[in-house]
Amino acid sequence: MEKININKRLRKISAYILDSKKIIDIGCDHALLGIYVCLNNANIEVIASDINDKPLIKAKDNIQKYHLEDRIKVKLGDGLDTIENDVDTIVISGMGTMNMLKILNKINEYPYVSNLVLSPNNDFDLLRSEIQKLGFKIEKEEIIKDNNKYYLIIKFTKGKELIDNFFGKLNLDNDINRDYFKYIYEKNNEIIEKIGVNDEKKKELININKRINEKVDLQ
Ligand SMILES: C[S@@+](CC[C@H](N)C(=O)[O-])C[C@H]1O[C@@H](n2cnc3c(N)ncnc32)[C@H](O)[C@@H]1O
Repeated sequence: MEKININKRLRKISAYILDSKKIIDIGCDHALLGIYVCLNNANIEVIASDINDKPLIKAKDNIQKYHLEDRIKVKLGDGLDTIENDVDTIVISGMGTMNMLKILNKINEYPYVSNLVLSPNNDFDLLRSEIQKLGFKIEKEEIIKDNNKYYLIIKFTKGKELIDNFFGKLNLDNDINRDYFKYIYEKNNEIIEKIGVNDEKKKELININKRINEKVDLQ
């Protein structure tokens, strides 16, 4: 069988879901994540779902290529509309935080879901705060850099725990996590120095950078 070629981001995400029984990958696109997970866990079942039918043609082709038709169900639909009541883990990756929050805002109507594995490409602190409000707590998380872009990979489980939304549970001794905050720090400084940024915004960014400087080794 042809070796599956998936990017570092999807490979890293797969490590967060390999111990699940049944996952739904919402916005699966090519379905490569589900395929990779099935090839690395003989028991896992997958729903690969997308709101657009075009990506699902490619997804079906890929699934056929790896003979996984009996383990990966392809479904067309919006967000949680395609879920089934034995799914324990929802995965959503490669979307913005606002779209993820829109999809997950009625998560409480699906009590059988125990884990959310999310990998947004923006607004990480907003995602942490809003998902925690829905009755989930952070189990683990990391930042990854792929193709010169930073992504968060975060796993939530059911429960309550008050966590700083800006740093979350990121290990600040980890080089990539630290590089991410250095990047934010430098970007904020650039914006602060720009003419045309209002005083309120400046104050907000200065405060953020003060917090980064206190917690992260910026050397
Ligand atoms: C950029 S791709 C990400 C693909 C893959 N998850 C990854 O991480 O590489 C986003 C996919 O999400 C799908 N999508 C966007 N909004 C959706 C929604 N509300 N429900 C299901 N799929 C959605 C899009 O059609 C697209 O295929």
